[in-house]
Amino acid sequence: MPKSKLLYLLMLIVSIVFIIYVLYINFIYDPQAAEFLSRKTNLKRSVNIPAWLTVMKVHVVLACLAMVSGAVNFSHRIQRKYRKFHRINGYVYLISVIAVVITSGYMAPYSTGGKVNSIAFNLLNIIWPIVTITAIVKIKKKQVNNHRKWMVRSYAFCFTNMAIHMITSVFNNGFGIAYSTSYTIGVYGSILLLPLLAEAVFRFKSRVP
Ligand code: HEM
Repeated sequence: MPKSKLLYLLMLIVSIVFIIYVLYINFIYDPQAAEFLSRKTNLKRSVNIPAWLTVMKVHVVLACLAMVSGAVNFSHRIQRKYRKFHRINGYVYLISVIAVVITSGYMAPYSTGGKVNSIAFNLLNIIWPIVTITAIVKIKKKQVNNHRKWMVRSYAFCFTNMAIHMITSVFNNGFGIAYSTSYTIGVYGSILLLPLLAEAVFRFKSRVP
C-alpha cells in the first residue's frame, strides 16, 4: 500500500476511534460533564450549567460532523469520482467549523484555567474559520494544490480537543503538574503543535509516491 494511503487510513482510524470516544464520554459516561466541570475553579463568571451543557453538546456533535466530513473529503477517490458530493460535503465541513467556533465562543469565557485559556480559544475562533475560508478561496481560484494544503491546515484543528486532553494528561498525570496549569499547556501546546503537524504531513507527502 502506498505510504500516503497508509497515512490517510491512519488518520481515518484515529478520527473514528476519537469520535466514538468523545460521543461515549459526553453522552453516555458523563452526560453532565461532572468531571470536567469540577476542574473549573476561580472563574470570574459563574457557569449556567444547563445552558453550558446544551451548547457543549451541540459543539461536540458538530465537531464530530466536521471530523467526518473533512476526513471523507480527503479521499482521492471521492475527489475524482464524486465531485458534486465533494463540493456539498465541503460546505457541510465549513458550516460545521463555523458552528463549532460559535459554540466555542459561548464556552470560551468560562474556560478551565481562566482568562489565559479564554484568550487562546478566542484566538482559535478567529484563526480556524480564516484558514478554512482561505482553503475555499483557493479552490474558487482553481488552485487545487493550495486548496488541499489549506484544508489540511484547517482539518488539523479538528484534533484540538484530542491534543488538549493528551497534553494535559501527560503534564497532569505524568509530571504531577496541577490540572489547570496542565490544561493551559495543553491549550497553547495544541495551537502550536497542530499547525506543525499539518506542515509535517506536507513534507511526508512530498517525499512519498
Ligand atoms: C473538532 C474537534 C473538537 C471536539 C471533538 C471538541 C469537543 C469538546 C468537548 C467534549 C468539550 C467539553 C470539555 C471537554 O471534555 O474537553 C469541548 C470544550 C470546548 N471546546 Fe471543543 N472540541 C473540538 C474542537 C474545538 C475547537 C477547534 C475549538 C476552538 C476553536 C474548541 C473550543 C472549545 C472550548 C472553548 C471549550 C470549553 C473549554 C473549557 O470549558 O475549558 N473546540 N470541546
